[in-house]
Amino acid sequence: TSRRPVLAGNWKMNGNLQLAQELVAKFSSELDSDAVEVVLCPPAVFLANVKQLLEQNAAALAGTRIGVGGQNASALDGGAHTGEIAASMLASVGCDYVILGHSERRAMYGDTTVSVAEKFAKAIANGLIPILCVGESESERQQGNTFDVIAADLEKVVETNGKRAFDNAIIAYEPLWAIGTGNSATPEQAQEVHAFIRAHLAKISDSDANAVRILYGGSVTPDNAVELFAQADVDGGLIGGASLDADKFINLCQMAV
Ligand code: G3H
Repeated sequence: TSRRPVLAGNWKMNGNLQLAQELVAKFSSELDSDAVEVVLCPPAVFLANVKQLLEQNAAALAGTRIGVGGQNASALDGGAHTGEIAASMLASVGCDYVILGHSERRAMYGDTTVSVAEKFAKAIANGLIPILCVGESESERQQGNTFDVIAADLEKVVETNGKRAFDNAIIAYEPLWAIGTGNSATPEQAQEVHAFIRAHLAKISDSDANAVRILYGGSVTPDNAVELFAQADVDGGLIGGASLDADKFINLCQMAV
């Protein structure tokens, strides 16, 4: 199977329009491939601007695939929910993707296995491609629960969204102990979990597990990316810190091809 690799930059609560301009300028001059799907996930207030920048530079970016994604979406359609953003709103400003269930949102903003599966439904209903984040904490790994923790999230998504839930979705494996720590998973550790995710999808869903892109996230840098991306079941990366440095991020995009 040929899975087109995905390189997604999750800015988290960082970055500004200048970073977007820098990235677009570099993409225009240095990225010359449609073999990698690039996703920019800036804070929501910048989404429309980033989309517009990409459109304004469409000619220079011809032959590349660069999309825009939200970092979160509500499980609800709208209403009195101050500070929340609906999936339909992300779609309306040109988002193609949305990150769901990032561990930071689970740890600090109340995301759960159940709510993430509900958010997934809203993303799909609005034509967005969910980038579903899964991953174990350090103690879950030490206790041998890595696969169980991840399986529970995948199963809830299928239970809530049906057996074809992963027809048009991306999964990001992010071990919590590797996020922002400089301590990436080894290529072997990543491959082991990615292979489990793919095998488990084949078991619990009717989506073609061999076609689902599974990204690795957690302290990916140009120094460790080549080996990580070379693993059989690693189809690119979800990049935090290194996505804020235009040179590093472009470098990673080139490595993912
Ligand atoms: O969404 C991105 C991940 O949380 C990885 O962040 O690359 O800064 O470790 P990091």
